[in-house]
Amino acid sequence: MRILGIETSCDDTGIAIYDDAVGILSDKLYNQSHFHNFYGGVVPELASRKHLEVLAMLIETMFQEFNIDKSSIDAIAYTAGPGLVGSLLVGATLATSLAFSLNIPTILVNHMEGHLLTPMLERTRIKFPFVGLLVSGGHTQLINAHDIGKYELLGESLDDAVGEAFDKIAKLLGLNYPGGSSLSKLAKSGIPGYFKFPRPIINRKDLNFSFSGLKTFVSNIIRKEKLNFQMRANIAKEFENAVTDVLVAKSKQALEKLNYTTLVVSGGVSANTILRQKLNSMGKFFHRKVFFSKPEWCTDNGLMIAYVGMLRFKKFKNFDLNIAVFPKWALTDLRVI
Ligand code: KG4
Ligand code: ZN
Repeated sequence: MRILGIETSCDDTGIAIYDDAVGILSDKLYNQSHFHNFYGGVVPELASRKHLEVLAMLIETMFQEFNIDKSSIDAIAYTAGPGLVGSLLVGATLATSLAFSLNIPTILVNHMEGHLLTPMLERTRIKFPFVGLLVSGGHTQLINAHDIGKYELLGESLDDAVGEAFDKIAKLLGLNYPGGSSLSKLAKSGIPGYFKFPRPIINRKDLNFSFSGLKTFVSNIIRKEKLNFQMRANIAKEFENAVTDVLVAKSKQALEKLNYTTLVVSGGVSANTILRQKLNSMGKFFHRKVFFSKPEWCTDNGLMIAYVGMLRFKKFKNFDLNIAVFPKWALTDLRVI
């Protein structure tokens, strides 16, 4: 079974083909961030126009480049939400038109389910149920993952998402958008313990997060301090440390609360090396299995949509030609469309 996946929820145009017998057949990404850098963040109108400009050509080129026959595709999976409405509409329209012309069904995929299940692509040892830590530019959530499509929210950020906090502090430190990975690089030169930032609500019994207070705390320091390279690196180091300490503590708490043995970490921020190191140490110490996907699959891509499309297609069957987008679409509200 072959599924074409299309991802256009934000500013990355991602496409891929996943075959359940062979694995990944192709995977292509057009990253728009250089267009949005100038504005310090994603401009929705620009993002949708760019998707429109590149998507059809990207798909056509992929079929030619990898010598894949369009008629061998069984269904087209596209991101139907959550995301920017204009960007989602471009992907949904193209996916549905192509599916119509090939007389095959569409599969509407939730972007967050795409992130959540990506680590399973390579790590076949991952078994449900597990705790999912989803850390991206728009979400910070702890999920009780019972099965494909069956998720329960354990906790989430009460304000800023963790990726958003990384991006805001990175911007104040003079780094380009999206700043998470550049901030992490800068942090490598930081002196550990030079600053001491708060670890927000780390000791609270619930599984929620809050990053806006930390962001304000750090912004005030950035405004007060003389920002030479070393000082910027010290700030980046302690910010990364504070955020990752909270993510690790809450993940551990969730595993203990549910008495689960497996933690699956996904979303753009899960590419962060320090987060990976700390979660792996926690896993070793408390005898829990911790899984991530390859760093390049942590951020938005078409492969996660093709893969989850395939899982849903096999599990739920009876898919039709459907077009819809849901800019707000909770992981706990997945239906078969
Ligand atoms: O999952 P994603 O590609 O997009 C959303 O669905 O939001 O996540 C993007 C976020 C951005 O905020 C980016 O700064 C962050 O992931 N990010 C990182 C790293 N790589 C990407 N944050 C911290 N460390 C990284 N290495
Ligand atoms: Zn994403």
